[in-house]
Amino acid sequence: MTEKIRELISEVEVDRRISELGAQISKDYAGKCIHLICVLKGGSFFMCELAKRITVDVTIDFMSVSSYGSDTKSSGVVKIVKDLDESIKDRDVLVVEDIVDSGRTLSYLLDMLKDRGPESVKLCTLLDKPDRRVVDVNVDYTGFRIPDEFVVGYGLDYNQKYRNLPFIGIIG
Ligand code: IMP
Ligand code: MG
Repeated sequence: MTEKIRELISEVEVDRRISELGAQISKDYAGKCIHLICVLKGGSFFMCELAKRITVDVTIDFMSVSSYGSDTKSSGVVKIVKDLDESIKDRDVLVVEDIVDSGRTLSYLLDMLKDRGPESVKLCTLLDKPDRRVVDVNVDYTGFRIPDEFVVGYGLDYNQKYRNLPFIGIIG
């Protein structure tokens, strides 16, 4: 079945905003090496575009997590499906996510990463749905704050489809 998708944020707007974030992050981390951690799969498109616009040294790693149980409104305990390849001890970690919704996933993930002894941990998300927040999460860099709508594109999926759309769209 093919769903109707309405554009919410155009490709040009997304690209422009990612450039701004890249410039801001490069400034904030001047003289440092940023260890970017991509939360798969949704964060992958955003992380690649962001990394290309960061002018300080960058290293990358990937992590995949899923909520326990099929219900996304479950306990907030997340299972690590794929852990990082490298240690983050003493590194300046920047977690890159597609979207912060309830905040459950990120809250758990950030606490877990902080326990591994990094120099710093910050969070950068392409999208934020503040109206949906259940657990408080400190977001350091946000691309766009959006209303409570289900969005796809730029890494975000609906039934695993539409991650490849170069813009952010709303289904329906
Ligand atoms: P939460 O913040 O723990 O509720 O979960 C965030 C995760 O839910 C994101 O990383 C996405 O994978 C998924 N998600 C939340 N809202 C959307 C959406 O509008 N479209 C696609 N995926 C979403
Ligand atoms: Mg995600």
